[in-house]
Amino acid sequence: MNEYILEVKNLTKIFPGVKALDSVNFKIKKGEIHCLCGENGAGKSTLMNVVSGVYPHDSYEGKVFLHGKETNYKTVKDSEQDNLAIIHQELALSPYLSIYENIFLGHIKSKTGIINWKQLIIDSKKLLKKVGLNENPETIVSKMGVGKQQLVEIARALSKNVELLILDEPTSSLNDVESEQLLQLILELKKEGITCIMISHKLNEVMEVADSITILRDGQTICSYDCHNENITEEIIIQGMVGRDMTHRYPEQDHKVSSDTIMEVKNWSVYHPEYPDLAVVKNASFNLKKGEILAFCGPMGAGRTELMMSIFGKAYGSHCSGELYIKGEKREYHTPKDAITDGLGYVSEDRKELGLILIQSVRQNISNSSLKKLSKLGVIDKHKELEEANNFKKSLNIKTPTVEQTVKNLSGGNQQKVVLSRCLLAEPEIFIVDEPTRGIDVGAKYEIYCILEDLVKQGKSVIMVTSEMPEAIGMADRIYVMNEGKIKGQLLKGDATQEKIMTMALTGKKE
Ligand SMILES: Nc1ncnc2c1ncn2[C@@H]1O[C@H](COP(=O)(O)OP(=O)(O)OP(=O)(O)O)[C@@H](O)[C@H]1O
Ligand SMILES: [Mg+2]
Repeated sequence: MNEYILEVKNLTKIFPGVKALDSVNFKIKKGEIHCLCGENGAGKSTLMNVVSGVYPHDSYEGKVFLHGKETNYKTVKDSEQDNLAIIHQELALSPYLSIYENIFLGHIKSKTGIINWKQLIIDSKKLLKKVGLNENPETIVSKMGVGKQQLVEIARALSKNVELLILDEPTSSLNDVESEQLLQLILELKKEGITCIMISHKLNEVMEVADSITILRDGQTICSYDCHNENITEEIIIQGMVGRDMTHRYPEQDHKVSSDTIMEVKNWSVYHPEYPDLAVVKNASFNLKKGEILAFCGPMGAGRTELMMSIFGKAYGSHCSGELYIKGEKREYHTPKDAITDGLGYVSEDRKELGLILIQSVRQNISNSSLKKLSKLGVIDKHKELEEANNFKKSLNIKTPTVEQTVKNLSGGNQQKVVLSRCLLAEPEIFIVDEPTRGIDVGAKYEIYCILEDLVKQGKSVIMVTSEMPEAIGMADRIYVMNEGKIKGQLLKGDATQEKIMTMALTGKKE
């Protein structure tokens, strides 16, 4: 028997203007957890899309073998028949269907055309237990957080007797606790003999679960490591990914925080859009100084995004109460446009839903918040628009053949850079970034931190909502810790540690 469940030989995949994969070779042993690492745009998702039949076999060159047999899939359905399942980078559940409908969607068994719905609910209960999700199978998926949705996706894969499970950045939207649960689940599945390919930018997680690692760079396989026989470190992976040593994860910081308060929020409460009596943020008060990087940490659901979005022109919530002052003057924004006009910028957590217009080009997405600035007498100056977009392509190193490319064709990390560019072009005084490095590779993270550092050096101010505590500790001058809709306290640069942030989230005290 062949010890490899999957083999990819000389795979080349070309999109107009982009060679996404260039003679890739890749092998996965049966029963192992194989991690795929590489910079944004390296070709990781494309490779997995080829393997799972998202791209049909006549759209690429090279060969894919499963259990030693060439695959030649025309659609994803064909790969499902071969017990292969892929969970995409952006979740693909039907938001308005229930958990159990999502689990069985597309492969509902019926006897003589009649579906036994009760049985489906019973079956999904078993699957939910297996993935550790304690929810009623009849719950509508959109009512749950991404962490739980991720587990539903896995339950769906398990319902199809999966042998090879592909997870494309499964933990990028999860907090530390949820991520750890998911990794434990993958390790459990391995014990049952399920082979798993995981793409991740979180190298600590890769180190935790990987039996072997393959590194892609610019569409080519750079190397593969066997983690049990070689002494692999995060530094070695980074070196392979970016092609050079990276001695620092955060830029040298020499910005000065002024004593002037640029923004002050007093007793801010926000109510749930569907349950107007439910306060999601309770009496939050905080201030932001000119030239300061302020971080908001706390577990998922702590109310950080809701607080920021409601301040940003009521982009969230049925109603909110409290006071907002900018440079000492009271403000009331009714729409995000009011906030943008007044010098606020927002990079949202959910780039696909809220941050981008996917069917528009990179150029249009970048100019969307600055059309007034780019127009003369109400007509957009196309030349200027193009020039600005090209400047950002260069300075943020956005990987795309041209700025006319449709944004949905960019890799996840490069889409994030487009959202940042849009916000930067509007030149806000106060820059609110919600999970700014979600799905971003180590090298590009460093580039984004440099941008934030540059902004504060110019006297602008940054509010960073982040679930990555090292990022808050490495970058912020002050950290506010939130939990259960309340600001529990603050920690200063130099004093903050992961333990203190977690203790404060739970008890409101530092230690
Ligand atoms: N449908 C498409 N049309 C055109 N170009 C595409 C398409 N899909 C991917 N690409 C390009 O192929 C390259 C590889 O993209 P891919 O999504 O595989 O990267 P990735 O390694 O998964 O990156 P990330 O870590 O950012 O998710 C990128 O340059 C991307 O812009
Ligand atoms: Mg990807």
